[in-house]
Amino acid sequence: MCGIIGINSNKPVSATIINSLKKLEYRGYDSAGIATLSSGLINEIKSEGRVDNLEKNSLVQNMEGTIGIGHVRWATHGSPNSINAHPHSSQNVSVVHNGIIENSTLLKNMLVKKGHKFKSQTDTEVIVHLITENLKKENIVNSIKKTLKELQGSFALGIIFKDEPDLIVGARRGSPLAVGYGPNENYLGSDSYALKSMTNKITYLNDGEFCVIKKDHVEFFSEEGNKINKKVLELSNEEEKYDKGDYKHFMAKEIEEQPITLKNGIKEYIDSVNDEINIYNIPWKKNEISSIILIGCGTAYHSCLMAKYWFEELTSLDVNVDIASEFRYRKNRFKKDSLYVFVSQSGETADTYAALDLCKKNDMKTCAVVNVIESSIARDSEFVLPIHCGTEIGVASTKAFLGQILILYILSLKLGVLRGDLEKKALSLKLKHLKELPKLVEQTLLTDNKIQNVSNTFNQAKGSMFLGRGFSYPIALEGALKLKELSYIHAEGYPAGEMKHGPLALIEEGMPVVVLAPRDDYYKKTISNMQEVIARGAKVLLITNKSDDEVVSENIWETIEVESTNQDLLPFLLTIPLQKLAYYSALKKGYDIDKPRNLAKSVTVE
Ligand code: F6R
Repeated sequence: MCGIIGINSNKPVSATIINSLKKLEYRGYDSAGIATLSSGLINEIKSEGRVDNLEKNSLVQNMEGTIGIGHVRWATHGSPNSINAHPHSSQNVSVVHNGIIENSTLLKNMLVKKGHKFKSQTDTEVIVHLITENLKKENIVNSIKKTLKELQGSFALGIIFKDEPDLIVGARRGSPLAVGYGPNENYLGSDSYALKSMTNKITYLNDGEFCVIKKDHVEFFSEEGNKINKKVLELSNEEEKYDKGDYKHFMAKEIEEQPITLKNGIKEYIDSVNDEINIYNIPWKKNEISSIILIGCGTAYHSCLMAKYWFEELTSLDVNVDIASEFRYRKNRFKKDSLYVFVSQSGETADTYAALDLCKKNDMKTCAVVNVIESSIARDSEFVLPIHCGTEIGVASTKAFLGQILILYILSLKLGVLRGDLEKKALSLKLKHLKELPKLVEQTLLTDNKIQNVSNTFNQAKGSMFLGRGFSYPIALEGALKLKELSYIHAEGYPAGEMKHGPLALIEEGMPVVVLAPRDDYYKKTISNMQEVIARGAKVLLITNKSDDEVVSENIWETIEVESTNQDLLPFLLTIPLQKLAYYSALKKGYDIDKPRNLAKSVTVE
């Protein structure tokens, strides 16, 4: 995680660095800092908490220097305070770092023996001292080359030097890094998003590469220190506007934007006139794929789990789902006829990227379902299906989740048709229902008061459970994740049929339990499981869909009904009350909804 910005200019840079850091807060918001060079000295100012705190510091407001680096931090080594905030500096060098240095303890011991004094608890500080040490014998390029060789782990680095008034070094291994080009100034950023307000001309560093950024040109080097040429890409220069409008929080706005997300996705991928799916450029023949492996983290992993039900229902493919951080270190059996699908909102998640990289190294077929189309995962996948939901600012993923499952559903329909598993007539009916979905989501979004009321009970509980079977099980997991990350209430998602194998022991008098029981193939079974928890004292919030048949079950605490549609699409509707439950619980607790504690929007460390 963490965000990096660097600017080498003719004009003072501190205000622009602060503005860029505000944009980068989605990567971390534990602490922030800035270092500039002026009058031949490195000035470093850091503060705990948000960039706002840094900006309020009067020293920052008067900070001079036309070259500088800035950082927002998501703590890995050392608590989130101003001492551990980046940049870290010696007299000669100042460094900002994303990633983790795995051999930092060994390096630190070696450096301490040589007389280096450490101020912080971070792994990053070893980089400062290593460069300082290597600079005693080497020029800049060689000292960087040598330092990078000594580091194990992952990093994106921005470095300035006391004696170099026209030079920022950037280096990448594992964590993404981009260079931007402006008029008489050049930039370094942890991604193109960080640079977009300054330039749309970008070069991405590949793993192992480093660069030297001067005001009027940039030089790139391979891991071995050889000069290399890199392409300058021109990104769209449309800058999206991010404001909350009339909403209190981005999350509230993003929840309400979900009908638009669905409409955009449907418009992009469905040919309404011919009832066809507009995914034509799949780079593999249908008989080249017999299994599909879906990989992601967190909410994106839940999208993958959701998709498994659809792929199994609608295609004859073998389907597997994996958590990226597990997949990347397992002894996987790579098979030529497997398609690996990587699902990620940011497209920068370190574990998901590493899983993609592993598949590429094994010559596998790769496809990305991403929101950020300039991201590393999108750039490095063979085939990309963007979800087009617009920027998601709230740390808790909402509209991106619905966007991901929409695209995965459409992909399952497409592969079903291509493989002859799904008939044209059945497809037409499914597309008809799909086109009605945005409207149904809109109507479901109107259910509000009841959710606000039930959130009080969740807030007072020690813990809660979310249960579902079949299509509803991944949604139960997602509902539990949303509640815990926003309201810090313990919440556990479980397959309803699994309760009696252990978790039933957790149920006690008054414990709130959400049961997802839409009228689908699993309905009756889930209702029986619901009775088992009610019998043990649970306060059940039943979420089902509207139907002429009344729910035949007693002692349900509260019922919320979403709109009705075919069973494939019910998961979209069930998601809405769960997002709102998490939102209102956090709101009533007064927590920071868009930036929950300990989290970040883009998880670029493993
Ligand atoms: C939860 C949430 C996270 C992300 C996960 C993967 O609300 O947002 O669990 O889903 O960190 O992020 P992406 O989708 O960017 O790969």
